[in-house]
Amino acid sequence: MKAIEIRNKYLRFFEKHGHKIIPSASLIPENDPSVLFNTAGMQQLVPYLLGEKHPQGNRLTDFQKCIRTNDIEEVGDNRHLTYFEMLGNWSLGDYFKEESIQMSYDFLTKELNIPAEKLSVTCFAGDDDCARDNVTYESWKKAGIPDDRIYFFGKKENWWIAGEEGPCGPDTEMFYDTGKPKCSENCNPACDCGKYVEIWNNVFMEFYKDKDGKYTKLKQHNVDTGLGLERMAMLLQGKETPFDTELFSPVMDKLKELESEENIASRRIIAEHLRSSIMIINDGGRPSNVDSGYILRRLIRRMTRHINKLGIDLNKLPELIDISIDSIKELYPELENNREKIKNVLVEEKNKFTKTLKNGEKEFEKVSNRLKNSGKDIIDGKTVFNLYETYGFPPEMTIELADENNLKVDMEDYDKLYKEHQEKSRMGSEAKFKGGLADQSEKSIMYHTATHLLHKALKIVLGDHVNQKGSNITEERLRFDFSHPQKMTKEEIEKVEDLVNEQIKRDLVVTCEEMSLEDAKASGAIGLFENKYGERVKVYTIGDFSKEICGGPHVTNTGKLGHFKIKKEEASSAGVRRIKAILED
Ligand code: ALA
Repeated sequence: MKAIEIRNKYLRFFEKHGHKIIPSASLIPENDPSVLFNTAGMQQLVPYLLGEKHPQGNRLTDFQKCIRTNDIEEVGDNRHLTYFEMLGNWSLGDYFKEESIQMSYDFLTKELNIPAEKLSVTCFAGDDDCARDNVTYESWKKAGIPDDRIYFFGKKENWWIAGEEGPCGPDTEMFYDTGKPKCSENCNPACDCGKYVEIWNNVFMEFYKDKDGKYTKLKQHNVDTGLGLERMAMLLQGKETPFDTELFSPVMDKLKELESEENIASRRIIAEHLRSSIMIINDGGRPSNVDSGYILRRLIRRMTRHINKLGIDLNKLPELIDISIDSIKELYPELENNREKIKNVLVEEKNKFTKTLKNGEKEFEKVSNRLKNSGKDIIDGKTVFNLYETYGFPPEMTIELADENNLKVDMEDYDKLYKEHQEKSRMGSEAKFKGGLADQSEKSIMYHTATHLLHKALKIVLGDHVNQKGSNITEERLRFDFSHPQKMTKEEIEKVEDLVNEQIKRDLVVTCEEMSLEDAKASGAIGLFENKYGERVKVYTIGDFSKEICGGPHVTNTGKLGHFKIKKEEASSAGVRRIKAILED
């Protein structure tokens, strides 16, 4: 069964069971500084898992474009991918364990025709935070999975949360038995020998984990599920790896035809990174030196190096892009419109990199020969840093090259040097930032001071968990993003407005002091993006009300600000709220 058929069957099945189909969110989350990419279907649904009403109702289904980069170095083996598609269905305070399990079982056995004997499942074994999940166990038995294929595990295997903080709960995972022999007597679905392949995860989200690690019950119980499309296609097609499915095989075949050096790991890295880069650019991503742009840059550079390694002419890249797009355009028809843009971005980045790739590889060879001649096998941090700064070689690539040459890399040393360098450039950019604001109008300076008052007022009204996640000021308004798990009530909004207006009426004096970062912290100043500051910082104090590390500038007295009014309070992204506010004359 082709991937597109699996996706269509999935969405139709859940539609038939009362679910509304919602669109995939962008791979690059808008206005969410806490994550670089969308990593799961539930990410766009966090406010609704916490209790807000979703406009489409309380049964939803979709396919979600995802990137997970934690295993990026593993790509090249027979299973790891950075980009993948997650099929998901959600109950927002509607059905729970039994119905969710019955639907999963029916979909797998009746729609995908997977023989029930090939399925094993796991349930949460229970601990101090949450009891053993007997309802899930009973539900699987009722659906048709016998006792000897139901396993219990602890939090490590059977608990799901996106990151450290947020909605979470026990889960049940479904595994496909490939029929390979057990690797040992104790071989079970938690073993990664390859006998059992995880195909679907149903999370029963009833809890919220706060930043101190405390669990509280959510207002409603939810179901959040995720099924990996590429993996399912691989299994249903009887293939050993996702690279053997229609999603990758045309590129893999072309690479095999073009290569002069045979290397299957390189072929997989190229095919995988090419597809991921195409999908990121398709959603508006561009290579850069920060955040998601840096990941994209790494993907393209690594891919370029491996094309080179296979002895393939880099001018073949546009042809490879076309083949990759053609293999997945049925899934993502919008690629057709973006085809030329995608090619331009990829080719431009490849060109930028090839200019230095040769020199970098030559330089690496020198380094490696020098080390070998002196009987050493560790590359120091300065060399790694130099390869990055001068030759544009991401450190990850140096590690990879070192590995291929049986050398080690002193990353601790590198990290230290990198931090020092960052500190210097941050001080530079802070100076630029100051200049930028200094040029701005009196009105935006007023909004800047109002932002400090708002930040402090939110901490007082909602609690200390409130932290700035983003800020944007124009002449017309301020926009402020901050961490807070739920919608603010009308009363809370009024309280915040009153508190800010009270400080304006008090006509507080705003003062500024320069000090070391350490002293600033000791003085109780709120640090926003802590690691963005240099050694010496400015601290702005507003009367007895607020103290914040900030580049400024600010008004001299709060009395000038007029009347503060919140125009909008809305969800910005997972666990982040956004306020838009104005100052009226
Ligand atoms: N959110 C769950 C996962 O990513 C379904 O596995």
